[in-house]
Amino acid sequence: MEKKKILILGRLGMLGQELFRVFAADDGYAVTAWDKNDVDITDFVVLEGKITTLAPDIVINAAAYNAVDACEKDDTEFERALILNRDVPGFLAGLSVKRGFLLVHYSTDYVFDGALEKNKAETGCCGGGCCGGGSAQVGYNEEALPNPLSRYGESKYAGERAVQEQSKRYYLIRLSKLFGKPGKSPQAKQSFFSVMLGQTETKAEVQAVDDEKSCFTYAPDLAVATKELIESESDFGTYHLTNEGTVTWYEAVEELYWLAGKTTKVVAVGSETFPRPARRPACSVLLNTKRPKLRPYTAALKEFLAAIK
Ligand SMILES: NC(=O)c1ccc[n+]([C@@H]2O[C@H](COP(=O)([O-])OP(=O)(O)OC[C@H]3O[C@@H](n4cnc5c(N)ncnc54)[C@H](OP(=O)(O)O)[C@@H]3O)[C@@H](O)[C@H]2O)c1
Repeated sequence: MEKKKILILGRLGMLGQELFRVFAADDGYAVTAWDKNDVDITDFVVLEGKITTLAPDIVINAAAYNAVDACEKDDTEFERALILNRDVPGFLAGLSVKRGFLLVHYSTDYVFDGALEKNKAETGCCGGGCCGGGSAQVGYNEEALPNPLSRYGESKYAGERAVQEQSKRYYLIRLSKLFGKPGKSPQAKQSFFSVMLGQTETKAEVQAVDDEKSCFTYAPDLAVATKELIESESDFGTYHLTNEGTVTWYEAVEELYWLAGKTTKVVAVGSETFPRPARRPACSVLLNTKRPKLRPYTAALKEFLAAIK
């Protein structure tokens, strides 16, 4: 059988490295993966030339601008965010029609305003999908209307619209709070769990925000779920793929320290304790109403801790 040609962009990122590992392990795929060293994906002339030569069946775009606070306070950074998060997916969407490939692109819970619990208290409906939207749970289903609070959220929402408007064959996957092994690029950031584990080396007590609620996403699980989505040949459109379990940052650190056997004390604080330039949604739970549920984040966290030992 002829192998499916797949191209992964953002190969050295937290998610990109896992996508590469998962697809490369399957003989049914011929995998090409690029990061900045291979091509600057904002150079559309070069990018189009390279993609045209490769002629992939599938392109997965795991490259993005993720500096939420930097782009909120700095106009030049916001320009960079718009280029990477809006213009690149828009360009790939157009090219997907011209060259006939399936496009997979990722977005975020930060496209939503997070007013779910407030809405529920005021009107009895969270406004995200609790009323007949596939789940009785408070949360955003795949069709809920975005309303970003930050410039980062705006840039990702603009990317979503560009993909939806221009591509015919696409999977747009929203996730939240990615964790896993840090990416391999020089700029790679550690995930929240790695940072909080690091703090136990020097602190007897840490503070963690207890008034922002959402779900975590383990990069290896998302990579597998992405492959399964592609192979399921499900309808094109928007999907929510996160691990199960709604938690605040505080609750997640409590779980992390318990699983890792750390005795560091965790103090719950309000988000005003850590003022940041960009506003975050208070409750941005993504409901997965279309695909098999991913395992609970606690099980994924156990595996992550074993993997980094
Ligand atoms: N991380 C999260 O918590 C989170 C939450 C929600 C949604 N998401 C979404 O999930 C997806 C994957 O995120 P991630 O955290 O895995 O991203 P990441 O670790 O930042 O990886 C992105 C990769 O793309 C590369 N890249 C950046 N600009 C490029 C360019 N011009 N040309 C070529 N490559 C370039 C980056 O290189 P450099 O590092 O050198 O810039 C990096 O290796 C993104 O769409 C992101 O928005 C992430």
